[in-house]
Amino acid sequence: MPNTVLIGAQWGDEGKGKIIDVLTEDADIVVRYQGGNNAGHTVKIEDTLYVLHLIPSGILHEGTLCVIGNGVVIDPLALVKEIRELEAAGITVDGRLFVSDRAHVVFPYHRLLDEAREARVARDRKIGTTKRGIGPSYGDKVSRVGLRMCDLVDEDFPGRFAARAAEAGSVLEALGAEPPDTRAVTAEYVEAAERLRPLLADSVDMLNRAVREGRSILFEGAQGTMLDIDFGTYPFVTSSNATAGGACSGTGIAPHRIDRVLGVVKAYTTRVGEGPFPTELKDAVGRHLGEAGREFGATTGRPRRCGWFDAVIARYAARINGVDAWAITKLDVLDALETLRICTAYRGANGRLYESVPADTRVLSRCEPVYEDMEGWRTATQDITRYEDLPPQAKAYLSRLCELTDVPLGILSLGPRRASTIRVAF
Ligand code: GDP
Ligand code: IMO
Ligand code: MG
Repeated sequence: MPNTVLIGAQWGDEGKGKIIDVLTEDADIVVRYQGGNNAGHTVKIEDTLYVLHLIPSGILHEGTLCVIGNGVVIDPLALVKEIRELEAAGITVDGRLFVSDRAHVVFPYHRLLDEAREARVARDRKIGTTKRGIGPSYGDKVSRVGLRMCDLVDEDFPGRFAARAAEAGSVLEALGAEPPDTRAVTAEYVEAAERLRPLLADSVDMLNRAVREGRSILFEGAQGTMLDIDFGTYPFVTSSNATAGGACSGTGIAPHRIDRVLGVVKAYTTRVGEGPFPTELKDAVGRHLGEAGREFGATTGRPRRCGWFDAVIARYAARINGVDAWAITKLDVLDALETLRICTAYRGANGRLYESVPADTRVLSRCEPVYEDMEGWRTATQDITRYEDLPPQAKAYLSRLCELTDVPLGILSLGPRRASTIRVAF
């Protein structure tokens, strides 16, 4: 398989985990390149549901190597827990999972800072984070005071950690939060480091060697384009580059070694957490999408906000990521609807028509979607295995999404399991 980057084109939870699982069949290595355990990637195999947070979804295929790249921020306790859960389910990770020694470590003070900052700001400024310490951890990385996995396994770790914890502790106190017990945290982290030590690798060298040997790499994006730190609905975003560019900086693989980009997009739109969402439906249709699509966060269990397909953000995502093909997921969730709406542009409060996403979140939050309507198909699609057998209205809807975004359909997903997937042209 050509080296492929898979990204989310909306606000996350597009079904990336499921599509990664399907594509892993053709890949030698699956690598996560950004984010942390704020991600929740669900894979359903037969009747078992697996939710991966830090470990690439490719781990569920026996022969595949998995790498957590340098661009990821790692909570070692969460990683050890995830490894144990996989082992309990009979999946071995030793010899198959490698963790970058350059990846930054998430500490309890990052989580507490994340929580304390969210608690203090006014309601309209809350981001609705997953409280996994992602923002403060990337903040330390960019401020050049973070500790990395190579530091965690070093004998100097307790001393270096104590110095960082003292500084973070005074910030926490100023925010009215109680700093964690440094000694207890050190002991827990040293124990986790022992479990993780054999998995640490120079992933940059390892992945480049694999590319030279002609092995195929699948880059597993987390979050989505509209949560990207640069291109998303700032400040209601996550703290990393969830877009395709992040695959290079988060792994050390050069841009021209990447062959293609697959964008994963839901046949409608969801968002979890705060921030503008032009096509959000707060009515019975929104509730129907939430129920039919089982739209609850895989990490926090929060209900996801639901709305119509937004071709403005999909088109924006297609450009930023250079999407070669779409994997359109959850089409089956629309089965019962009589009429479907697609947002083709926004009308700003000033009457201006926007065909791309405005930078100013305040402008975006006052935009009204401009819709075109399409007829629903009102037939169950979950068991359809050939594109030709789809109801004509479903084909028309898919064609319109592709036309509006100028990206062809590569994969269609009609249910959470591997079997409910139609490889159209990818
Ligand atoms: P990710 O974060 O992008 O990996 O997505 P999540 O796992 O957070 O959320 C996607 C949810 O939709 C999961 O519960 C999947 O099992 C489910 N899912 C994925 N594809 C489909 C599909 O085509 N149809 C339906 N009904 N569910 C799907
Ligand atoms: P996957 O990979 C959906 C959202 C949070 C919040 C914002 C910032 O499963 O698609 P953070 O904890 O990252 O600082 O929170 O980003 N968020 C996600 N929403 N899917 C995700 O990941 C997300 N990861 C973070 O809800 O709005
Ligand atoms: Mg998710």
